[in-house]
Order: sequence, then structure tokens, then C-alpha cells
Amino acid sequence: MELFEIIGKTKLNGEVYINGAKNAAVAIIPAAIATGGICKIENVPDIEDVENLKTAITKLGAVCERPDPHTLIIDSSKISSHIVDYNSVKKIRASYYMLGALLTRYKKAEVPLPGGCNFGERPIDQHIKGFEALGATVKIEHGMVKAYADNLRGASIYLDKVSVGSTINIMLAAVCAKGVTTIENAAKEPHIVDTANFLNMMGANIKGAGTEIIKILGVEKLHGCEYTIIPDQIEAGTYMIAAAVAGGDVTVQNIIPKHMDTLSIKLREMGGIVEEGDDFLRVISDGNLKNVEVKTMSYPGFPTDLQPQMTALMAASSGMGNITETVWENRFQYVTELKRLGCKITVDGRVARIEGGAKLTGAEVHATDLRAGASLIIAALACEGKTTIGNVRYINRGYEAIEEKLGALGADIKRVFIDDSDERYSEEMN
Ligand code: EPU
Repeated sequence: MELFEIIGKTKLNGEVYINGAKNAAVAIIPAAIATGGICKIENVPDIEDVENLKTAITKLGAVCERPDPHTLIIDSSKISSHIVDYNSVKKIRASYYMLGALLTRYKKAEVPLPGGCNFGERPIDQHIKGFEALGATVKIEHGMVKAYADNLRGASIYLDKVSVGSTINIMLAAVCAKGVTTIENAAKEPHIVDTANFLNMMGANIKGAGTEIIKILGVEKLHGCEYTIIPDQIEAGTYMIAAAVAGGDVTVQNIIPKHMDTLSIKLREMGGIVEEGDDFLRVISDGNLKNVEVKTMSYPGFPTDLQPQMTALMAASSGMGNITETVWENRFQYVTELKRLGCKITVDGRVARIEGGAKLTGAEVHATDLRAGASLIIAALACEGKTTIGNVRYINRGYEAIEEKLGALGADIKRVFIDDSDERYSEEMN
């Protein structure tokens, strides 16, 4: 079992390099099996979600090579099955992208239902609505989503919810559908644009990704390609918030600053300095910022995946502030753990009211999901004394070498391996 031990109150200084985007990688890897060609994907983050997806497509028959930790070569020519087994995807929420990709490749797909997550239900009704509009028959039985189509044909699809997953999945299923598919009320996140760019490199004809209306003209078939994944907006934001909470002068390198606009604006409102370059942002903070109002929204709004980290920063800042979560119904479960560190937060439905200025002190806490884990790390940086974070496996899903990167900036953080039978950490807080 792994833990993080963090001793807070050290300033952060220097440069940190951001890896490729997790949420683009977990869409692009399944997209690669929509062709029988070879795809070389670069700037792949070295994280557990990628490793798990690689295992899942290998079990289907794909041959994956990783000549270096950030390059993945996928040869899908020998894929022989359209049925994904539960064990290979039970740890990956994004397994549902195999549905769209296998529908394009074989016109049939059977994929285990994605599990619920620690911040609530994860419905896929909009994905299914899209597949059905394209001509597929979809049923759910024995824990599997089963989709079959004689032919896929273009359709006009209006999403009732702005949804990243269904926007990408419908694109995946529509790339070879006959005629034109229109997705209205599409999500606009950077990883949607990245997945569309990847599919276009494979021969697809997708226009409008990054806007509310995406048009897909079906093509005969896809082919292999070479592609480089965009930098991770959420990893970048996590380091910007870490710099803001700890104080210091940190340059977050290898990013697309535009993707960070809402966070940069909020950090400036809080009294931090954020300077922008072509592919970097420099955050300067005295570690004593003042609170603001934040509301999560789909892109270009404030990302829900930075909400837990922002809550920790606000708890360590001064004055009152509110964070309203509009994307997920129940994404404040981690607050109980932040309170163990002394954070003063009251959750009322979708709003967390934060009373800044509390004295934060280290304690034993547990991550309840990936971004909740990042939030605990942020809070620990502001704590007096030692914080021990359990359930590090959640953090491993989405952050590459986080302890090395923070350590290089000056944080006192160690990954500690302990015996699984150690009673102090055997009870996981899920
Ligand atoms: N929704 C529906 N029906 C659907 C799909 C979604 O009602 O068919 C609802 C959801 O319940 C939620 C909202 O729509 O309330 C948005 O869900 P979305 O489909 O956008 O989420 P997702 O695609 O499942 C991705 C990211 C999440 C991120 C959300 C929102 C991936 C693999 N995951 O999830 O990332 O929070 O978009 O931006 O891309 C993370 O990285 O920590 C993470 C959870």
C-alpha cells in the first residue's frame, strides 16, 4: 500500500513540466482501435488510467508497444473481438469510449457498464441516445452495454446535457456513418478538440469541435496516424493552485495558457500574480490570498476537475468564499477529509461555504477519488506539521510522478510503501 507523507509550510519555487492530458489520452487510445491501422501516439501521460486502457485493448487483440514512457504505438490489426471483459475495464471510468470505437470498427460492441464514481451517478443515457439516433440498437443486460447496428447513418443529435463523454462517444461512432451527423449542445473541452483532431488525422471529417455544434461527414474508413496529445489542463491547474497555496514563484511549462484562463483570472482576483508566456504560466504568490466566488461550468467555465483543489486553496486563504458545483451532483464528499486538516467548510447542496483563515494542521486523511486526492495534497502544503494521505492509488490514476514534481519545487513530500496489513490504513474511506 502507498501513502504520501507531506510536511507543509515550505515555499515552492522553480519550473514544473506538464504531461499529456489524461482525459484526451483515455479517449484517443480507444479511438485508435476504430481502425485496423497503426497509431503512434506521443505525449501520453505515464499514469494508471493509461496503463489500464492499454491492458484492455491488448486483451481485445491489439498489440501495444511503449518505446518510451510517453509514446504508445497501437497496432489494432489483430483485434478479433468486440466484447470487452469486465476485469480489464473495471478500474477505468472512460471504458465507455470502447463502445463508440468498436461500433465504428465492427458495428457491434459489448462493453461493461462503467461503475458509479465516488462523486455520484455516472449516467450514459446521452451516449445511448446518440448511438440509437445513428441506427444502433442498444440494450443493457448482465452489466454490459450491448450495441449493434446493421448500418450506421448520420443523424442530428441534440444533447440534453452538456456532456464530454457523450460528445466524444458520438463522434467516435459517427466518423464512418453514412452521411452527415450533427451534435448540438456539444461539450467544448480541449480534450474534445484533441480527440477530433486525432480522428481527423486518421482520415475522419469532423468540423466544429470546440464549439456547440459539431458536424461529422462520414468517411469510408479510417487509417493509422501519428499524433501528439495536448498538455493536461487539470494537471497544470493543480500545480498553479499548489504554487498559490504554498507561496513562491512557480513556472508551469509545456501548457496551453488559454486553457487555463478561468483559473488564471481567479488566482489574480485572489491577489496572486499570473504571468503568461507562449507555452507557460508563471504563478507568484505570498501564500496568503483572499477568497472569491467560484462556480464550476463546462468549458470555457471553471473546470469541475479543479473544484476540490480550489476548495483547499480557499480554505487556506483569508475571508469568506463560496464554491458552487454545477456539473456533478455530489462532488464535495472529500470535504470531510479537508475538515480533519482544520479547513472550515460547510456544504449546503451544491455550494461549499468556505471560511478562510483557519489554522490548518496535518493529520491522517484518505483520498476519496482522484481530484479529492489532489485537494488533500494542496491542503497539506498549507498545514503545520505532517499530513499522511491514504488511498494514493486514486492519485496514481491521473497524476504522473506528482511527488517528484512537487519535491523538485521544494515541497517536503514522500511516497511511502507500507505493509498492506498496517491497521492504521487498512480501512479505506470509500
Ligand atoms: N450526464 C448525463 N448523461 C450522460 C452523460 C453525462 O446526465 O449520458 C451528466 C453527468 O451526470 C454530469 C454531466 O452530465 O452531471 C457531465 O458529465 P460528462 O459526460 O461531461 O462527464 P464524463 O464525460 O463522464 C468527463 C471527465 C471528468 C470530468 C467531466 C466533466 C473523462 C474521462 N472524464 O467525465 O473528469 O469531471 O468530464 O468535465 O474525460 C477527472 O478527470 O477527475 C474527471 C472526473
